[in-house]
Amino acid sequence: MSDIILGIESSCDDTSAAVLRDEYLLSSVIASQKVHQVWGGVVPELASRAHLMNIVPVVDQALKEANVTMEEVDAIAFTRGPGLLGSLLVGTSFAKGLAISSGKKLVDVNHLQGHILSCLVKQEGKDTPSPTFPFLTLLVSGGHTQIVRVDGHFEFEILGQTIDDAVGEAFDKCSKMMGLGYPGGPVVDKLAKEGDPLKFKFNLPNVGGLDYSFSGIKTSLLYFLRDRLKENPNFIEENKADICASFQKALIDILMKKLILAVKQTGIKQVSIGGGVSANSGLRERVAEEGKKRGWQTFIPEFKFTTDNAAMIAISGLYKYRRGEFCSLERPSVPRASAMNQSQK
Ligand code: KG4
Ligand code: ZN
Repeated sequence: MSDIILGIESSCDDTSAAVLRDEYLLSSVIASQKVHQVWGGVVPELASRAHLMNIVPVVDQALKEANVTMEEVDAIAFTRGPGLLGSLLVGTSFAKGLAISSGKKLVDVNHLQGHILSCLVKQEGKDTPSPTFPFLTLLVSGGHTQIVRVDGHFEFEILGQTIDDAVGEAFDKCSKMMGLGYPGGPVVDKLAKEGDPLKFKFNLPNVGGLDYSFSGIKTSLLYFLRDRLKENPNFIEENKADICASFQKALIDILMKKLILAVKQTGIKQVSIGGGVSANSGLRERVAEEGKKRGWQTFIPEFKFTTDNAAMIAISGLYKYRRGEFCSLERPSVPRASAMNQSQK
């Protein structure tokens, strides 16, 4: 007997639903919210409203594309946190309502666990390899930058993490400072492809162990732009691609230094990447390149599994469902990662 899981993700600005049959993806629908672009960042109130508008059609479409009815679904998995509270509440309330009306089991998922386990989703007709335990994940998103040791579906150890900003924020701020729009990562990535990564140098942080820091490099870009603009008001316009390429290289250098150290320290040579920033073409290339050079087995996700998606929520939900760990209707959404474990009522 196979297990059919409906996953629902609404932690930030993507409304997404996906259906899995065991580890196999039957459908994945993502409605990305464009309303935030004019504001230069996610506006929480607008995000919640857009989720409210999107959630019914998105779930409906995911079921249709999977050719699955609600009767056939075994469990509904949803993101309980971390994320924006208003956004989480929409997915949580919808999932609970659907569970009550359909009589299906409800499973709550930690969004970060979702990003980490996204590399275990399989697709019919594609034999993309998945890592076996233990493996290391470089989890890089708008809110998180972590190196995680994964020993099982529910056994994670954070080996290192950012002590201030996430790397995704550094990409977004870079774009904002240069007036390139939001979200910044994809724009910087695109321009970086046409630029010279060695043109400008940025000082790299000096943080102990496997931890990261990105606030200093953000400030150094700010001062760099301010000083150059004093000399030449067209500096950004004339050097856009080179600035993006050089700044992106600096961010990737920071990420790779600690990842290489983590592999050395643990002896674990299976390495995956996940989260929105794992869509970055420069990072993907570097991980593949370093992996080849150092004898790692690397797992680089397809683009649709990098940014927020419900397939990753469904796969995490599947393993929880199989352990018989269900969510009570009283269990609340939790915006902060640190509060996830303290709120297991
Ligand atoms: O995982 P995600 O969709 O949401 C969070 O959980 O935060 O990650 C969003 C982040 C944003 O900071 C966005 O700029 C970044 O991922 N991002 C990228 C790229 N695509 C998205 N950063 C660098 N290069 C990209 N191609
Ligand atoms: Zn995410």
